[in-house]
Amino acid sequence: MTSTLITNIAELVTNDPEADDLLGAIPDAALVVEGSRVAWVGRAVDAPDADERLDVGGRAVLPGFVDSHSHLVFAGDRAQEFAARMAGESYAAGGIRTTVAATRAATDEQLTAHVARLVQEMRRQGTTTVEIKSGYGLTTRDEARSLAVARQFTEETTFLGAHVVPADTDPAAYVALVTGPMLEAAAPHAKWIDVFCERGAFDDDQARVILAAGRAHGLLPRLHANQLGPGPGVRLAAELGLTAVDHCTYLDDADVAALRDSGTIATLLPGVEFSTRQPYPDARALLDAGVRVAIASDCNPGSSFSSSLPLCVALAVREMRMTPAEAVHAATAMGARALGRDDIGALTPGKRADLMVLDAPSHVHLAYRPGVPLVRSVWLGGRAAV
Ligand code: NIG
Ligand code: FE
Repeated sequence: MTSTLITNIAELVTNDPEADDLLGAIPDAALVVEGSRVAWVGRAVDAPDADERLDVGGRAVLPGFVDSHSHLVFAGDRAQEFAARMAGESYAAGGIRTTVAATRAATDEQLTAHVARLVQEMRRQGTTTVEIKSGYGLTTRDEARSLAVARQFTEETTFLGAHVVPADTDPAAYVALVTGPMLEAAAPHAKWIDVFCERGAFDDDQARVILAAGRAHGLLPRLHANQLGPGPGVRLAAELGLTAVDHCTYLDDADVAALRDSGTIATLLPGVEFSTRQPYPDARALLDAGVRVAIASDCNPGSSFSSSLPLCVALAVREMRMTPAEAVHAATAMGARALGRDDIGALTPGKRADLMVLDAPSHVHLAYRPGVPLVRSVWLGGRAAV
């Protein structure tokens, strides 16, 4: 197995949970990659020999971003809806149906090419693992093929047949479809099951039934909740002990306490608030209360058409009062935990060598230099990919 010493690292973010600081940052560092894994990290002066040597010239090295929430399988364009919002209209879940029509009309090849383009866009911005949901098919055939497309790019695939009730469909009949034939067809291609638990989509009783059906088929449950207004979704997620509940924009004290007590990760999606002009979730209050927080892009054609975790980190710092270290940790280590993964999201011996080299001396620059393409190179499983 070939080993490579990456050295002259101004700051190495390890996310080592044993370290005194949140990021386990090592100054003047080096890292040895062996095969697909990290074999050694420490001060450059102490580095062991390796077969190959790469000098990164005083740049920062971080774990790759783990984007635990995206909806990349879709066709069509909703730029006009965004423009209308910026002219004063508010975001509504019903826009999803526009994308559903375009997605059903697209071929598998078109959908695959589109996802490939977006995944490549993410890679260039430092994302090394992405979760991808279905949810723009909403028929048995279209949900199953959306997941089959997504599976070509990631093992983190999520069945979101319960995104909205399709037009002209009886809600009870649709829940029966989602928990019956659609689930049967989707389950072989999915790891997770998700429900958009929100007024205008699915209520908490429906969410309970759908998640239970998913569990019975071996899928792991997660939820979209409290995005457009207060509601029961976050408390349901805590009650069910879900790994993560996503959005968490409108929370009351009982929601925050439930998240803290359950350990369910609140995945915040600041690209959504940016693109819908909603208020940002109060990440500071969540962190101060002891809630575990992750950040993801929610890349989708309606509420947040950005694939950029550097943008999300900058927004989390500027608009949600997270420190740069908290935001980077939330987009790497916590993203991994939100996907139930312990092999990624950190650069300590034994972890997958998924990393990015920044054209900057520290992680702080991701928020300090918003909008600047700082990701210089990306390694996936020990190999340079970008
Ligand atoms: O995560 N909340 C529901 N689904 C997506 C938006 C989907 C759309 O508008 O197309 C979200 O924001
Ligand atoms: Fe989403």
